[in-house]
Amino acid sequence: MKNLRKTGLLALLATLVMVLAACSGGGRSGDSGSSSGADVSEGASTAAGGGEVGKIGVSLPQKTSENWVRAEQYFNEAIKEMGLEGTVLFANGGVTEQQNQLDTLISGGAKVIVVGAIDGSQLGGQLKSAHDQGIKVIAYDRMLTNTDAVDYYVAFDAFKVGELQGKSLLEGLEAKKPGGPWTVEIFAGSPDDANSLQFFNGAMSVLDPEIEAGKIEVKSGQRTFEQAATQGWKGENAQKRMDTLLSGFYSGSQPDGVLSPNDNLAQYILQSFTSAGKTGPVITGQDSEENAVKRLMDGSQYSSIYKDTRLLVNEAVKMAKEIQEKGTLDVNDPEGIDNGTKMVPTQALEPIITTKDNAAEVYKDDPVLAPLTQ
Ligand code: BGC
Repeated sequence: MKNLRKTGLLALLATLVMVLAACSGGGRSGDSGSSSGADVSEGASTAAGGGEVGKIGVSLPQKTSENWVRAEQYFNEAIKEMGLEGTVLFANGGVTEQQNQLDTLISGGAKVIVVGAIDGSQLGGQLKSAHDQGIKVIAYDRMLTNTDAVDYYVAFDAFKVGELQGKSLLEGLEAKKPGGPWTVEIFAGSPDDANSLQFFNGAMSVLDPEIEAGKIEVKSGQRTFEQAATQGWKGENAQKRMDTLLSGFYSGSQPDGVLSPNDNLAQYILQSFTSAGKTGPVITGQDSEENAVKRLMDGSQYSSIYKDTRLLVNEAVKMAKEIQEKGTLDVNDPEGIDNGTKMVPTQALEPIITTKDNAAEVYKDDPVLAPLTQ
């Protein structure tokens, strides 16, 4: 699978060049206006290969981190750039809204739906109805679980994200206090997001052996996914839990490190340290949000993960186009990932770990992040 992924990466590099060209005019942050309406009933466009390519329906979750904000703009741009028609909807109101939006996309004539699920286990009815009507389904970023009505998955490798976070936490702790031992607290993402357990398992595959060896102490003892989870990926929930951990287990001291699953939660966890009058810990993140890159550079956050949303969106739209043209797709992990019901052929992208040391290099082609590293 690794080799296949490497082969895929070459293709992805070529794709990135294309996307960068497509995106060169625009900034990346900010809400680029509200989602267009749900009318997807206009005619199909003609694909480069001559075949008819129908509409693409994109259904995304709440904007719980900057990558989802960026995704809206990038989907609209990529759909236009590839000469397609499509609709991008956000389910800001929750699972029921996402179910309703999927119904709308399906009845509106979408030929492929791309789904970034709030809760990938709650959309089975809508996905089945899509399949019954011959609509292809692509899971975007988050796996759609416990359904066989999903054709492909496109995402940055979530277990790898966690592994990289675990490794960088160790690296940061070693730099701060050579040889250890270290006190650490563990945070995970929202339990309804299939990625969260993958991030957690990846990170704990690195940290558990250090805990067993006595090199890391989790003073609260809260080491399970359930204990570490942050409902709804909500910053306030993580901050509240950190407040409780600091007052309960660290009066007169402080944890040396915190495993944070993403940048947004890292921001709230750091706020908790500030409110308690404690010095910030070695802390991880994910997404390379603008504020997080600033924190990398000023030393208040140790690491982040770069998962270029332009690349992910571009892959998804390209897949949605090709599946209609060819009826099948070449992906770099054809065997795929188990979603609980079937193996889903996957286009896996490589996440990149970033610290202050490699930030300028990693973000050098990113028009918004590059200037922040100067
Ligand atoms: C995404 C992360 C993001 C998180 C919260 C996850 O599914 O993969 O990039 O930080 O959701 O929005």
